[in-house]
Amino acid sequence: MYQGLPEPPALGASALPDGTFSGASVFITGAGTGLGKAIATEFARLGAAIIIASRKPEHLASGAAAIAEVGGRCLAVACDIREPEQITAAFDRAAEAGFMPSILVNNAAANFAVPAEDMSPNAWRTVVDITLNGTFFCAREFARRHLDTATPGSIINIGATYAWTGGPGFAHSAAAKAGVKNLTETLAVEWAPYGIQVNGLVPGLMPHDDMTADIQGNLARTHDKDVCQPAMRVGRPRELAWAATFLASPYARFISGHTLVVDGANWQRRALTMPEVVPVREQMGREPFTL
Ligand code: HXC
Ligand code: NAP
Repeated sequence: MYQGLPEPPALGASALPDGTFSGASVFITGAGTGLGKAIATEFARLGAAIIIASRKPEHLASGAAAIAEVGGRCLAVACDIREPEQITAAFDRAAEAGFMPSILVNNAAANFAVPAEDMSPNAWRTVVDITLNGTFFCAREFARRHLDTATPGSIINIGATYAWTGGPGFAHSAAAKAGVKNLTETLAVEWAPYGIQVNGLVPGLMPHDDMTADIQGNLARTHDKDVCQPAMRVGRPRELAWAATFLASPYARFISGHTLVVDGANWQRRALTMPEVVPVREQMGREPFTL
């Protein structure tokens, strides 16, 4: 009997023909780290020019270096996606450089584990502002430019499975990702007449070295992650990148308003006899709540 889902091909293999994105540019938020960097690198391997938009210079530099390593062209632009005028400026920079994007990947997000009763109003606002509002502002900027020039485009919004299930310990992020999924469906219908596809893409647990200390700390507190997944393994960032390039490729032109989950069926997992419930604050080793 096979022990879990097979390993994917090695890093560097591409699922699509060489040059699939030659002449195209892809605007990817948060592409200096983790999954965004993996997606950007895969688009670059297939010939796309990449625009990386994020806040921190060290992340912009790291993303640009990864694209250079695969021989790609890259424009790295400092941009906080909570600020619509910074997004407009980033698109202006891309257009001036001759890289007007035909693909947008809304990958940037914010997240940290915190019991809902401990969450400050500003913590809630920050996560919703980056994850949901930032996604809408970028999508709006992209679509307005394509409507103006009557050119087609493709938007991919990166989500999370707790958009459907709720996410104990992640009330802010789960609510924001549910908003992103819903927004994907609305925008797909509104903009299809103008040739703009809008899809969602959801990774399962895909650990990587750039994960924030907060997320890594929470993962490290508990047992080995592979055996907790039906696939008997966590996901590889390149598996998400292959799905992203497919969704934005000419082979997926009739797919819109769909959210694709790449998680080895983990989000549907239920046990015949459910394990004992442990309150989130206990899972996080916190003292009982007091006002
Ligand atoms: C409780 C916290 C907190 C924490 C921040 N806050 N970290 N509250 N627990 N661990 C609160 C702060 O106290 C503050 O509220 C408010 O949040 C804003 O914090 P700032 O540090 O001022 O915000 P900012 O500098 O804008 O940074 C945003 C950030 C940061 C979200 C806090 O972590 C960040 O930049 N993250 C980007 C990368 C990221 O989050 N990646 C994760 C994606 S992974 P007060 O009230 O004090 O002012 C993902 C899914 C992974 O989404 C799933 C794995 C299981
Ligand atoms: P990550 O490495 O922490 O990346 C998050 C990125 O978002 C960073 O590069 C960060 O760059 C950028 N960002 C944050 N706030 C921003 C802002 N205000 N403006 C512009 N950029 C901002 O996380 P990841 O694991 O790669 O996650 C990528 C996506 O996958 C996210 O949408 C996440 O929710 C989703 N996801 C990941 C997993 C997983 O297992 N990894 C699971 C489920 C869902 P700066 O700091 O430079 O701004």
